[in-house]
Amino acid sequence: MRNKVVIGNWKMNTNLEEAYNLVADISKLKERETISIILPPLAYIKTLQNIACPNLKIGAQNLSEYSKGAYTGEISAQMLQSIGVKYVCIGHSERRTLFNECNNTIQQKMQQAINNKLKPILCCGESLDLRKENKHLDFIKNQILSALQNIDTEDFSNIIIAYEPIWAIGTGETATATQAQEVHAFIRNLLAENFGENIAENMTILYGGSVKPSNASALFAEKDIDGALVGGASLKAEDFVQIINANN
Ligand code: PGA
Repeated sequence: MRNKVVIGNWKMNTNLEEAYNLVADISKLKERETISIILPPLAYIKTLQNIACPNLKIGAQNLSEYSKGAYTGEISAQMLQSIGVKYVCIGHSERRTLFNECNNTIQQKMQQAINNKLKPILCCGESLDLRKENKHLDFIKNQILSALQNIDTEDFSNIIIAYEPIWAIGTGETATATQAQEVHAFIRNLLAENFGENIAENMTILYGGSVKPSNASALFAEKDIDGALVGGASLKAEDFVQIINANN
């Protein structure tokens, strides 16, 4: 059985008070058994760890590709590990496009995470142009195979993959459940071909891009969609908890 997961990516939103209240509200509303993860701004991680209910994990939105040294403004995998963070998002399209992170950088970040016992949430996904040209599957294949290079077989169980078509992020435009399932099945086949059936079958693959309470159930009903990476809707406690509850 694959783990079903819902992750909230707050991006650069909330002040400390709002963040505190949001985690307190989610903790109150959420059923305790289901695992969910919040990726708040880095500055609030320690505070939020102290108030989150069990099974609401607090992760990080980013980490450095370097291990330590003169890299002003960066945060290392070891630092995250030392404050009790387990999950870290890597390769989000906003990092790739706005901060010029290339496949090589993503690969180095994956290594940093794995070497420091963090669980990477590896994001992939195509632009609208690539989809229109029908080049999206090749593009995603490249992103994934590059990021997973040099990862040992036993470390795959610590990885979550998130498919997030760029044209659906923050736009209100969701991929249809069928469109998303098609890519998720493609990713699972790709994993089977390159790393074996077992790794493919056990990999949690999330969908991201304008997921909300009204479309979550249809997405989660697809056989290769194991949950969601949620941006905008994760900033409203009730919406986020409804999405979590839809993922049974
Ligand atoms: P969205 O963002 O749900 O606001 O589209 C998803 C994401 O960027 O992870």
